[in-house]
Amino acid sequence: MTGLWWSMLAVSIVVIVFVTVMGGWGIVKGRRRREEDIERNVPWGDRFILISGIGVTGAILVAFFLVSLRAMSTLARARPSNLEITITGHDWWWEARYPNGAVTANEIHIPAGERVHVDLRSADVIHSLWVPELAPKIDLIPGRANEMWIQADHPGQYRGQCAEYCGLQHAHMIFFVVADTPADFQTWMKDMAAPAPDPSTALAVQGQQVFLSNTCIGCHAIRGTPAAGQLGPDLTHMATRSTIGAGTVPLSPQTLEQWILAPDQIKPGVTMPPTALTGEQVRALVAYLLTLGFEQPS
Ligand code: CUA
Repeated sequence: MTGLWWSMLAVSIVVIVFVTVMGGWGIVKGRRRREEDIERNVPWGDRFILISGIGVTGAILVAFFLVSLRAMSTLARARPSNLEITITGHDWWWEARYPNGAVTANEIHIPAGERVHVDLRSADVIHSLWVPELAPKIDLIPGRANEMWIQADHPGQYRGQCAEYCGLQHAHMIFFVVADTPADFQTWMKDMAAPAPDPSTALAVQGQQVFLSNTCIGCHAIRGTPAAGQLGPDLTHMATRSTIGAGTVPLSPQTLEQWILAPDQIKPGVTMPPTALTGEQVRALVAYLLTLGFEQPS
């Protein structure tokens, strides 16, 4: 495809230079020649127009048409991908589900160098998935499934953004596509599908109790515990993510505490309600949530 584009550019440059030179030449020399040609009745101009204007132009267009047809048939025979991810847009965050049961939010890992098939859905209004470095924008539309391919040629982190106005926090509907080496990706997907690690400190155990006995479980799931809410992001391995609120603030004990107590102050309009917890309960809850990483192999 790139070859076709460059050859079109090269031919266009040649044509533009040729036409410009001929035009300039015509302006400078044309007037004087015309008188002589008319007198001598030399039809050189007609032949020149026939050959270059119709013959050469036609040949170039037909040649590019044929080459484009070949490129189109190559594109139509899109290679099947080994991985299919479902991405759902929510007001105002992104959910990604993997075939092995892994669920995450706002940090979408893919294997570098591989074509990934993405199913796009919306839980509420129209959003648009846009990762400028990887793929064109495509809408996520309520009630219908869209699809696209993405591929990152090199490992790295690629910033993405909702590109369809979807309400108050449209601008804070940020996500990252993280391209890992294929081996790292397989490890990540396996770890992400695993249930949450059990809390190991007294404070974290207390925090888990706070989580399970409050309204948190109405919206959030932590796999491996009774919490199975589906309205908000899955928190099973939330400590592996780098931001809160879909890229709104970096994840830290302080921001997490603020977020739990008054999410609306960080992200006005956010669906998550404020939480009435004592300072001690919040500290325990934060301690627990920050243990939700990946279990280290022992
Ligand atoms: Cu979602 Cu804008």
